[in-house]
Amino acid sequence: MSQPSWVKGVDPTKVSAARMYDAALDGVNNLAVDRAAVAAITAITPYYLPTTIENRNVLQRMVRYLREQAGITQFLDIGAGLPTRGQVHEIADDAKVVYVDNDPEVIAHARALMAGTDRVRIVEGDARRPDDILAHRDVKDFLDWTSPIGLLLVGVLHFIPDDDGVYDLVERLKAALGPGSYVAITHGTTDGFDLAWNTAIAQQYESAQNRPHMRSYEEIEPFFANCDLVPPGLVNGVRWRPDGDTPPPEHIGIYGGIGRIQPGQR
Ligand SMILES: C[S@@+](CC[C@H](N)C(=O)[O-])C[C@H]1O[C@@H](n2cnc3c(N)ncnc32)[C@H](O)[C@@H]1O
Repeated sequence: MSQPSWVKGVDPTKVSAARMYDAALDGVNNLAVDRAAVAAITAITPYYLPTTIENRNVLQRMVRYLREQAGITQFLDIGAGLPTRGQVHEIADDAKVVYVDNDPEVIAHARALMAGTDRVRIVEGDARRPDDILAHRDVKDFLDWTSPIGLLLVGVLHFIPDDDGVYDLVERLKAALGPGSYVAITHGTTDGFDLAWNTAIAQQYESAQNRPHMRSYEEIEPFFANCDLVPPGLVNGVRWRPDGDTPPPEHIGIYGGIGRIQPGQR
């Protein structure tokens, strides 16, 4: 790909989690170093590509569920990623959406593509600092905090180690939401994984700002504390309300679930 101007200032020898994800989804917003890292992982594990593709599919099914079944008309999408096919504001095409990411490249690109879209705001913010996100004027003033909000933490919590307070930050965000709000989460897992694959994947992310920290089912479930899980609960990604042919679950290394935040959690 020819380097667009927004790549200026970015070290092209370093991978980024957002660009690698884009490369795995066959997007155009990635560099040779990202494609090489994805190819190296794909050569070692059959999980990576189908898992990445399914993660994006699960995100879309979850947003559709939240808009069409749960009636959610505003979304806070943290760890939004580079704009690629099937964006949240395109699926929920009458909803307000705030996209948050801590990668300046994602922010620059999203702003360039979505400038002037009234229903959308783009915020540079770090999930590890939830209070800063909640206090940002494009979050605080743009969303209606007296009405339900769909909080999306899709494919992002596995970039945050326990030591960075990942469980606390999720509770903090959930606690800020109005009655009837939901949290949608997908998370990469180590369950069923060959540990050698894990090491090989981690090596490919070594120069990235955001590096993966996969978790087991038992470690992911507590993110839904104080929530009622929407059926079918927290399950392998392919089993979360599939709407067509899906790959075999043994090739998919993510869990996904949506929780309705219980009243009184605010
Ligand atoms: C795998 S992509 C997921 C994109 C999108 N949510 C999806 O599921 O299709 C992960 C995104 O999370 C972002 N990210 C990682 N750690 C983050 C953090 N601490 N705060 C905000 N964003 C983060 C990365 O920059 C990247 O864009």
